[in-house]
Amino acid sequence: MRNRPPLIDGWGRTVDDLRVSVTDKCNFRCTYCMPPQGLPWLPKDAILTFEEITRVAAVFVSCGIRSIKLTGGEPLVRRDLHVLIRMLRDLDAGLDISLTTNGYLLAEQAPALADAGLDRVSVSCDSLLRHRFTELTLRDALAQVRRGIRVAAAAGLTPLKVNVVVMRNRNDDELIEFARLARDTGYDVRFIEYMPLDAQGAWSSDQVVPGVEIVERIDAVFPLRAAGRRDGDPATRFVFADGAGGSIGVIPSVTEPFCSSCNRVRVTADGNVRACLFSVDESDVKRPMRAGADDDELEELIRDCVARKWAGHRIGQADFVRPSRSMSMIGG
Ligand code: GTP
Ligand code: 5AD
Ligand code: SF4
Repeated sequence: MRNRPPLIDGWGRTVDDLRVSVTDKCNFRCTYCMPPQGLPWLPKDAILTFEEITRVAAVFVSCGIRSIKLTGGEPLVRRDLHVLIRMLRDLDAGLDISLTTNGYLLAEQAPALADAGLDRVSVSCDSLLRHRFTELTLRDALAQVRRGIRVAAAAGLTPLKVNVVVMRNRNDDELIEFARLARDTGYDVRFIEYMPLDAQGAWSSDQVVPGVEIVERIDAVFPLRAAGRRDGDPATRFVFADGAGGSIGVIPSVTEPFCSSCNRVRVTADGNVRACLFSVDESDVKRPMRAGADDDELEELIRDCVARKWAGHRIGQADFVRPSRSMSMIGG
């Protein structure tokens, strides 16, 4: 594969982490993400094919992308996802390829995904209590998700991360139980501040539990030791002072944005490049690709979009503009 210059945005940040949403569909209805009836799904021909995703990914990889994260909606509802994993793995044996999933279909798919070359998974789980999990996702699926997590870990899809979106008075009484899960299993449990990306516009700042508070509350029960933040990782990590396994992470997107070290770029399921989760503009690569654009032309579109990446989001500022797409359309 030809080597192209790295992707550098207008603020000097090198972009080397690509997130590809493979579908806008989801089999859950997390109340903070989607309305109970779902959203109007994209028509099939609006979605990039595996060949198109691989072609765009190849251009990105030739520009220095080192890590590809597949997201959704729920990526495992896309049929035969392991085939795409294999195609991406064939681009470059050294790529870090991971998946963020709700875990519902993981038990049945984890072995095939691992065989195809997937490195690791992050699984979303916002409650360890059956009734509450059902209330939050509108699916009685906690046991199935926990089984998916165990099967994925056994299939070697590690380090295994569990993502918990923390919401005040909804699930913040479970911080300690989630910390216990990390200790008992060796998983990396990451607590995410709730962001204004829900489809219904119900977010308010009083529902956000600040990352520092999360750390204090866990530290009071299980003393923690700071383990720092890896470059480009949104999570600040902590390990247990008593040497127990696993780790705790907080992703303080709202109270302590990490935008200044952001190395990410996204491709939506319908083939638009987005420089930021909160972007209000996108660059269409699907139409040019279907009209016969060559790789140099795709590179130029990508490079232009990255160059225009802004310094960071403005959540909490008077001039904050909510992106018109919600999380399930962008892929987190
Ligand atoms: P890895 O460390 O490579 O596994 O990636 P990750 O931690 O970003 O993966 P994941 O998809 O599990 O994302 C965890 C949380 O971080 C999700 O809630 C994302 O929405 C959030 N997140 C991911 N990227 C960004 C970003 O660019 N900006 C902000 N503010 N939040 C992000
Ligand atoms: N704020 C923070 N995280 C969110 N996620 C979905 N919606 C939001 C939101 N509004 C999380 C999911 C998943 C990841 C991709 O993003 O729970 O873990
Ligand atoms: Fe589906 Fe993820 Fe949205 Fe939940 S957060 S409804 S699992 S896309």
